Amino acid sequence: MGIALIWCLALILIRWITSKEFLFSYSKECVTIMYIVGVNIDVRVRSRAGFETERRGSHPYIDFRIFHSNSEIEVSVSARNVRRLLSFQRYLRSSRFFRGITVPNSSNILDDDYNGQAKCMLEKVGNWNFDIFLFDRLTNGNSLVSLTFHLFNLHGLIEHFQLDTMKLRRFLVMVQEDYHSQNPYHNAVHAADVTQAMHCYLKEPKLSKSLTPWDVLLSLIAAATHDLDHPGVNQPFLIKTNHYLATLYKNTSVLENHHWRSAVGLLRESGLFAHMSLENRQLMESQIGDLILATDISQQNEYLSMFRSHLDRGDLCLENANHRHFILQMALKCADICNPCRTWELSKQWSEKVTEEFFHQGDIEKKYHLGVSPLCDRQTETIANIQIGFMTYLVEPLFGEWARFSNTRLSQTMLGHLGLNKASWKGVQREQSGSGDDVDPAFEEMDSDILPQEPRLS
Ligand SMILES: *[C@@H]1O[C@H](CO)[C@@H](O)[C@H](O)[C@H]1NC(C)=O
Ligand SMILES: *[C@@H]1O[C@H](CO)[C@@H](O)[C@H](O)[C@H]1NC(C)=O
Ligand SMILES: [Zn+2]
Repeated sequence: MGIALIWCLALILIRWITSKEFLFSYSKECVTIMYIVGVNIDVRVRSRAGFETERRGSHPYIDFRIFHSNSEIEVSVSARNVRRLLSFQRYLRSSRFFRGITVPNSSNILDDDYNGQAKCMLEKVGNWNFDIFLFDRLTNGNSLVSLTFHLFNLHGLIEHFQLDTMKLRRFLVMVQEDYHSQNPYHNAVHAADVTQAMHCYLKEPKLSKSLTPWDVLLSLIAAATHDLDHPGVNQPFLIKTNHYLATLYKNTSVLENHHWRSAVGLLRESGLFAHMSLENRQLMESQIGDLILATDISQQNEYLSMFRSHLDRGDLCLENANHRHFILQMALKCADICNPCRTWELSKQWSEKVTEEFFHQGDIEKKYHLGVSPLCDRQTETIANIQIGFMTYLVEPLFGEWARFSNTRLSQTMLGHLGLNKASWKGVQREQSGSGDDVDPAFEEMDSDILPQEPRLS
């Protein structure tokens, strides 16, 4: 372990100093060690292993060379690629340590007119029909930074935790940049949408009167980072392609663990909470982990039955921090899969995007003969089938319980949209097939391991 570690660090150093292309070869263990050593290095490893190339070019950053090697990942970076993507200069330019200097000042990156409209939208940030797509256009693709910064301000977090606003902005820019804009669905706009939904839930009377600033802080950070660095493919795909993240996280909540560790990396790197005690920072990191890990949709039944039994017993006590955090986990789960509870116009766009991402994965699986995952085959699946299954087996049960917990106008609005949207998709389905009641059988196996991630709209 010691020697392997030194060897890995030496390789990183050589790569840093030379900035030249060379044949690079390292074991999976080494990648794992690099990963554990720190997320900074993780990012660099990704670049060197060619993931960055994939990230910028096509959707998933999966390095297809892994299909052709056994235990060694051999990476030969061509001179052109180095110049185009991996040059030392480019690394410096994009490096977090230097990025702070070019942190966009919202007044610089926006036309004044758009800026004014975006600001105007932010006044209604707590409305359930907030149009995040429009907001993203008005902010020139900076919806996650703008919205989250605004919410930090609105909840008084900057003052309460004595946050340096430059560091906060820098942190949020890093978060936004670590989402893959090429992903049709799992990109920064989805993160912004989930953060906005989370804000709506935090405002619900039951929660707002018992939440502490600490809870709000964790909730917003977890929402903004919950899909950080998502590769645009699901966990079964990572497992069957022997991706090192699957090895690292032992095939369990692989993506969620990676989102969390990536978030921790950025939190540490930004120094946003450097002024807090180590104890508090560690508590924050682990609690953010609990929130993000709860978004693993394959665990939904466990969370849902816990929620249900609390509600049956009526024993939830929000003065109790553990209960509060459990509710925040449920709230983040709701925020993550709330697309079908939005207005039809918004909901439909999300449905198209997520299906595009599934089908893209299916195309890759076909091309490389990996076996097409359920819901990913564009020849046999339709948006309507996928949505109806998703609503029936995942969204309706979750929001049904949520409405029991928080029986408010918002909950009724969400259930109302859910019903209408499902009826609309059933109409589409009838037009397409002539039969009305097809529900994708894939969703009925939600508990099995075959399907842990497919219907993941997270
Ligand atoms: C950033 O924007 C503020 C106004 O919002 C302005 O006062 C400040 O000078 C700007 N900073 C830079 C570096 O342009
Ligand atoms: C993960 O799953 C793959 C494929 O099913 C299997 O070969 C591997 O041993 C599993 N790894 C762990 C740590 O369970
Ligand atoms: Zn998500």
